[in-house]
Amino acid sequence: AQGVASTRLAARLQRAHAVADLRGLAARRLPKAVFDFIDGGAEDERTLRDNVEAFDAWMLMPRVGVDVGTRDLSCAILGARSSLPVMMAPTGLAGFFWPDGEVAGARAAARAGIPYCLSTNSVGSIEHVAKGAPDGERWFQLYFLRDRDWMQALLRRAAAARYRVLCLTVDLAVQGRRERDLRNAFTMPLRPRLSTAFDLARRPGWLAGVARSRLGFGNFEVAGPGFTSVAQHVASLFDPSANWDDIARIRESWRGPMALKGLLHPADAERAVALGIEAVIVSNHGGRQLDDVPAAIEALPDVAAAVAGRAEVILDGGVRRGTDVIKALALGATACSLGRPFLWGLAAGGTEGVARTIEIFRSELDNAMTLLGTPALKDIARDHVRARRGRW
Ligand code: FNR
Repeated sequence: AQGVASTRLAARLQRAHAVADLRGLAARRLPKAVFDFIDGGAEDERTLRDNVEAFDAWMLMPRVGVDVGTRDLSCAILGARSSLPVMMAPTGLAGFFWPDGEVAGARAAARAGIPYCLSTNSVGSIEHVAKGAPDGERWFQLYFLRDRDWMQALLRRAAAARYRVLCLTVDLAVQGRRERDLRNAFTMPLRPRLSTAFDLARRPGWLAGVARSRLGFGNFEVAGPGFTSVAQHVASLFDPSANWDDIARIRESWRGPMALKGLLHPADAERAVALGIEAVIVSNHGGRQLDDVPAAIEALPDVAAAVAGRAEVILDGGVRRGTDVIKALALGATACSLGRPFLWGLAAGGTEGVARTIEIFRSELDNAMTLLGTPALKDIARDHVRARRGRW
């Protein structure tokens, strides 16, 4: 029976030709509250929408007469080779979307040769994920915790488990107001309610897998009473008082390369560079934190100008197509970091689903680079994009 199920799954994934198709599969498989947690954003979700729609403000400008007979989609991200200018953004609770979801995602990333970033808020622990996906380029994402000793312990554990890059996320002093989660009374695990019972009855695949998994925040000892909302978890453990001195201290205590994630202002990027941080991740947390802030692609050009090549610039948020990746590179990014597209793949089909997301991006990017006349990533220049006038 398992063989039949996995053949069916493989066939479904093969019929997904855009990440939007994988989103549809995820919506069918996940309970509504879980799907909303992934898909939703803060308050009116304006930034969430803008992250995607702001890519429309740019057009691609192809050049002809270029030999595009062979293409090279690979690049270096913080000194490590990546087969695509794309990495998996840190996303909490992946083990709540697919059984052992972090390992499933990390395996797909390793197999495809792109970086995987594990979240502080993962279900599987730092060690568990390193053991389950020992190959490949692993990053660890850290939040500021009230318990500084615990934070240092997480850093030591990540280094010992051979996560090469540290990604410090600085846009989550408190959790944004995500109203879908409030309305759904979203907790991990799901609190049994009559309204969810009907929903769950229609999600046998998810129920059989995830509902039987051991759920919790694997990097924390606080097992807790269960039924924790992410906002509660953040409010009790995260430290809103962290400032640039604290960021500097983390920089000093991590030997490997470090990225700072969640900035939009060029002056903050300057400050990060001054501390010796090797990459800035231009991000509004996928529209999940402060609403009404600029779309990531909107903030990118000024940040790239301020950084002026002294650090790598990673664009994070709203990337849904290979052409979006090209626009980001043309506007100064080294690479892109993607959250939801991988989570939709994960929820649709575990490792194979994430592999499908990567495959889709690979073929879209290859196709677009061929038609644009840029056979290698280094050929993509500012001149390959034009601001679209009139409608915006
Ligand atoms: C996130 N994000 C996130 N970021 C982070 O630094 N640590 C985390 O634990 C999480 N958790 C998380 C969970 C879920 C369900 C989502 C959707 C996002 C933000 C993530 O790293 C990234 O910034 C956004 O997802 C990028 O936007 P797109 O690609 O989803 O549009």
